[in-house]
Amino acid sequence: MKVEVVEFGSELHARAVQLRREVLRYPLGMDYTPEQVAEDAHKIVLAATDGDVVIGTMQITDEGDGWQRFRAVAVSPQRHRQGIGRLLSAYGEDLVRAKGGHSVMLHARYMALRFYGSLGYAEVGPWFYEVGMPHKRMEKRLDR
Ligand SMILES: CC(C)(COP(=O)(O)OP(=O)(O)OC[C@H]1O[C@@H](n2cnc3c(N)ncnc32)[C@H](O)[C@@H]1OP(=O)(O)O)[C@@H](O)C(=O)NCCC(=O)NCCS
Repeated sequence: MKVEVVEFGSELHARAVQLRREVLRYPLGMDYTPEQVAEDAHKIVLAATDGDVVIGTMQITDEGDGWQRFRAVAVSPQRHRQGIGRLLSAYGEDLVRAKGGHSVMLHARYMALRFYGSLGYAEVGPWFYEVGMPHKRMEKRLDR
C-alpha cells in the first residue's frame, strides 16, 4: 500500500474521484457535479493505492494563515479499520508541515468523530448540518 499526490485529470485522479463518489455521495443518493470535480485542480488530492486499486483518498485545501483543511476523506468499505485513513492523514499532515502550515481543520461527519479523535483532532463548536447529516468542526495543531 502507498500514498501519493494525484495529478489532476490523470487516470489515478479519475479512480480517486470514483471512490469518493462511491463512499461519500452514492449512499446519500447524491453525486458531485462536473464543476465540483473540476475544483480538484485547485486542491491537493491524495490517493492510497494497493497495486492499481485506489483504496483511499482525501483532499487538502489552503484556508490561509497557516491553516489547511482535510476534505472528502474516504476509504473503501471493504478496507476499513486497516490503518488506511490513519496513513492518509499522516501523509497529509506531513504535507501541511512541509508547506509551513501549523494547523489542520475539518468538518467531521458524526460517524467519523472517533476516527479523527484517535488521530488527535479536537471537537470545536456546535453540531451543524452538511449534506443532510450532523457534522462537527475538528482541529489539530501540528507539532513541528
Ligand atoms: C472514517 C474513515 C475514513 C476511517 O478510515 P479507516 O481506514 O477505516 O480508519 P483507520 O483504520 O485508519 O482507523 C484509525 C483509528 O481510528 C479509529 N476508528 C476508525 N474507524 C472507527 C470506527 N468506525 N469506530 C471507532 N473508532 C474508529 C480507531 O481508533 C482506529 O484505530 P484501530 O483500528 O487501531 O482501533 C472510513 O471509515 C471511511 O471512509 N468512512 C466513510 C466515509 C467518512 O465518513 N469519511 C469521513 C468524512 S468526514
